[in-house]
Amino acid sequence: MSKNTRVPGYMQSKAARNTRGIIGDREIRFKCSLQNTILDVLRGRPGWQEVPGPNIQQQNSQQNNKPAAGIKPTVSSQPAGPQQPSAGVPNRIGYQPVPPIQRNSDGDWDFYWCDREWLHQNYDTMFLHEHQKILHFRNHYELTRKNLMVKNLKRLKKQTEREQGKSEGLSFDFHPTTYELPSEYHIFVEEFKRNPGITWIMKPAAKSQGKGIFLFRRLKDITDWKKGEYQPLTDTTREVPETYVVQRYIENPYLIGGRKFDIRIYVLVVSYNPLKVWLYRDGFARFSNTRFSLDSIEDAYVHLTNVSVQKNAPDYDPEKGCKWSTMRLRQYLTAKHGSEAVKKVFKGIDNIITKGLQSVQKIIINDKHCFEMYGYDILLDSDLKPWLIEINASPSLTASGKEDYELKFGLLNDLLNVLDLENRLTGKEKRIGGWDLLWDDGPVLADDGNMECTTNGTSVTTANSFLGCHNDRKRQLREIYTSAQAIKKT
Ligand SMILES: Nc1ncnc2c1ncn2[C@@H]1O[C@H](COP(=O)(O)OP(=O)(O)O)[C@@H](O)[C@H]1O
Ligand SMILES: [Mg+2]
Repeated sequence: MSKNTRVPGYMQSKAARNTRGIIGDREIRFKCSLQNTILDVLRGRPGWQEVPGPNIQQQNSQQNNKPAAGIKPTVSSQPAGPQQPSAGVPNRIGYQPVPPIQRNSDGDWDFYWCDREWLHQNYDTMFLHEHQKILHFRNHYELTRKNLMVKNLKRLKKQTEREQGKSEGLSFDFHPTTYELPSEYHIFVEEFKRNPGITWIMKPAAKSQGKGIFLFRRLKDITDWKKGEYQPLTDTTREVPETYVVQRYIENPYLIGGRKFDIRIYVLVVSYNPLKVWLYRDGFARFSNTRFSLDSIEDAYVHLTNVSVQKNAPDYDPEKGCKWSTMRLRQYLTAKHGSEAVKKVFKGIDNIITKGLQSVQKIIINDKHCFEMYGYDILLDSDLKPWLIEINASPSLTASGKEDYELKFGLLNDLLNVLDLENRLTGKEKRIGGWDLLWDDGPVLADDGNMECTTNGTSVTTANSFLGCHNDRKRQLREIYTSAQAIKKT
């Protein structure tokens, strides 16, 4: 452990030693069904020990926990965290798989980073103890399936218009016109005919990584899809057609260097009732590899910004990659358009984040054991208007390069700091590392002292939102741990 990553005084004073975590004094036992950055974070976290799942032995023998090509193992960039010695868990980020502790019980965990399939299969039969924490809410798909997200947003918009007037409903106009297929095919055709010549995008409602997506301008372009998917179900052995959404394609994306991009934003929900939301200040813009043009609507490398699509482009350069940090993007936009215009963009993004979550607040099965880290996809158009493209419940945690690894490592480590299973914080913090508390049963305002957005040195918004601002997370963690410790002492 390097000196500058030490939490001052943590577990050194008598008071600190007397501070018991939620779990008590024993180690925190975790399970993880992924083999990427999150596993590194969990294995590297002092005081945490791994409980092998069914696949752990296999994972270890395959040594799948290696970094992506080109990323060097990082030693001791572990940010402030509990620094007590811990048997079996190295106090550094290690790529060599750490041998898991052998346990027999499958339910013997305090923290589980599980996959959605596992949760669906087991949630209803699970009994969880008071302190146990698990990733995902039971019916997270209400927000993360493309068709359901739009349905829920449309419903909340209508309700808002009814209760607060038409003008309030305008604050929901941030997702492109969308219809569910096949169920809304006929309404879509009417809309299609009203807008001749525009471009539409078809997307499977429940797939990701750009799979199954195509653009079209003529109705007959979707005839083949219709033939395959949209047949009356006379044949009872046939599967129900896959649900798609058809969406107005944003034909005027904001371009940088002639290329389109979208922004990946990380949002953490620790409770739906009351709604409590954290926003991570780092993230990235994902660029397409090829210059934007509406002439080649069949070219996925031009129109889909997913890294999983772009990395297969023939001229993709893995060294250069196709990402900018959100901070770099914010600086670029500020230099080009001024801070007022950029403030408006980011305020618009805050609005999208909270409206999206409010649209499902009453539907999601709230459970104090559950939390969710969402990856929002936001696209800017040439008028700097932010559009919500989709919300993911399992944003990729696989790093595409060294910088990406560092971002994701910090993000996930700070997520554990927010959940605070070690019980080292006061619970009143408005910022923990790179996460800022955006909503706590209502909008959260920035403290006066915290109002500066350091990309251009000016004092900005009153909302506690710092997307794309400087992320001095390690310094901030040192401060809050010191102050929480002092408060707990008294
Ligand atoms: N309505 C749209 N207008 C412009 N580009 C879009 C639109 N919908 C999707 N895209 C592009 O396609 C990509 C993939 O779409 P998305 O809805 O995120 O599906 P997936 O779940 O496959 O990632 C987006 O990242 C964006 O670049
Ligand atoms: Mg996406």
